[in-house]
Amino acid sequence: MRINKKDWIFVAIIAAVFAVFYAISGEERTKRVPLDEKHRASYELFKKTGSKMEADKGCPACHFEPGGVPFPSKHPVKPKDGPMRCLFCHKLKLAGT
Ligand code: HEC
Ligand code: HEC
Repeated sequence: MRINKKDWIFVAIIAAVFAVFYAISGEERTKRVPLDEKHRASYELFKKTGSKMEADKGCPACHFEPGGVPFPSKHPVKPKDGPMRCLFCHKLKLAGT
């Protein structure tokens, strides 16, 4: 069977659908920010400012190494790498965030 242009477009669409599923599942595997006493202030800050970047600034107060709450050894980024966008990966337990 000869693969024509139409077939290639079909293959590309299937591949794109799988790529999207993969990307979504990866995001969902990342743990959300717990809705507990320790994280209440971060939730309040986000609700007050409406800015995840503002809320991000509070995370390294506890999440730092050495001495603070440690990161997994395979954590993609560490605070020493520069400004942290924690909430870009770790979603808040709120609708639409
Ligand atoms: C580029 C995406 C990304 C960013 C930015 C990021 N993380 Fe993570 N983090 C992950 C992934 C992936 C894991 C491992 C999977 C998981 O357990 O969520 C993880 C795991 C963790 C864990 C361990 C969760 C457990 O298993 O108990 C903590 C705590 C954590 N991150 C805190 C932070 C904090 C605080 C920041 C900001 C200073 C941050 N992360 C920024 C992706 C990210
Ligand atoms: C007051 C200290 C404090 C602040 C501020 C804080 N955390 Fe945490 N975080 C903790 C502690 C302690 C843990 C360990 C688990 C626990 O006891 O809740 C934790 C656990 C986590 C986990 C892992 C949850 C799990 O399911 O294992 C993530 C993700 C996380 N924090 C993200 C963040 C992000 C993002 C911010 C900033 C918006 C932040 N934290 C701000 C103290 C803090």
